[in-house]
Amino acid sequence: MSAAMPLMMLIMNLAMVAIVWFGGLRIGGGAMQVGDLMAFIQYAMQIMFSILMGAMMFIMIPRAQISANRVNEVLTIEPVIQDSERTESTLSTQNEGVTFQNVSFSYPGAEKPALSHLSFTAKRGETTAIIGGTGAGKSTILNLIPRYFDVTGGSVRVNGVDVKDVPLEELRRRIGYVPQKSVLFTGTVAENVRYGNAQATDEEVRTAARIAQADAFIQEMDHGYDSIIAQGGKNVSGGQKQRLAIARALVRKADIYLLDDSFRHWITGPMRV
Ligand SMILES: Nc1ncnc2c1ncn2[C@@H]1O[C@H](COP(=O)(O)OP(=O)(O)O)[C@@H](O)[C@H]1O
Ligand SMILES: [Mg+2]
Repeated sequence: MSAAMPLMMLIMNLAMVAIVWFGGLRIGGGAMQVGDLMAFIQYAMQIMFSILMGAMMFIMIPRAQISANRVNEVLTIEPVIQDSERTESTLSTQNEGVTFQNVSFSYPGAEKPALSHLSFTAKRGETTAIIGGTGAGKSTILNLIPRYFDVTGGSVRVNGVDVKDVPLEELRRRIGYVPQKSVLFTGTVAENVRYGNAQATDEEVRTAARIAQADAFIQEMDHGYDSIIAQGGKNVSGGQKQRLAIARALVRKADIYLLDDSFRHWITGPMRV
């Protein structure tokens, strides 16, 4: 492929030189007019371009085929985590909060478990903080609640019901999750916040942003809530990205908010070293 393009360009340009060369000789001899030569060049260009495009097709089609296969491979993956047969949506009746009962968890293929025999209760109406060093398993604990992974031992209960017995859609609708590494999409600030809840009104978006302390810097942006966020949130700082991610979770009006390392950018005042 890398050699094909220059080669084709070389052939095209050599053909052009030949046309001008021989055409020039004929015009010099009075056998041809300049206009004829120009027309000839135009026709020759069109033909050569078509041949070039045809050649490109033979390169592009196999590539597209392989790419399509890869996309299909991803699309046909069956999620490992599915609704169980005896799902019940009884989350709202009791208010016991989130309970971990003797939970053990190993990542697939990992040598040692990330969590072993963990039990605790995060009561409703309270804020539970989990503190630990890097790699201690904080993110792992949070991932188990919306069933991004299933426990390998013990059970995770929300309002007294095992998360495996709750329909996934219902479970995740009730959870506002701010991942450790938040992802913003190309689009406006408001659209990015509304990703948490497509039905949210402008006022709700604004309130969520205010609670997440994002309102101030959004107002300072050129177009406020209609300012464009670049792909991956490249035009906002890490802290601003985090605040937008929190606003996105808050706009869901969820029962449970999971904030994973969300306050690392929350240093107020100058940092002392
Ligand atoms: N996707 C994964 N696959 C395998 N091991 C993982 C994966 N994610 C995390 N781990 C391991 O699990 C442990 C806990 O990680 P994590 O919960 O991300 O820690 P924390 O959030 O407390 O920094 C670490 O030892 C890490 O190496
Ligand atoms: Mg983490």
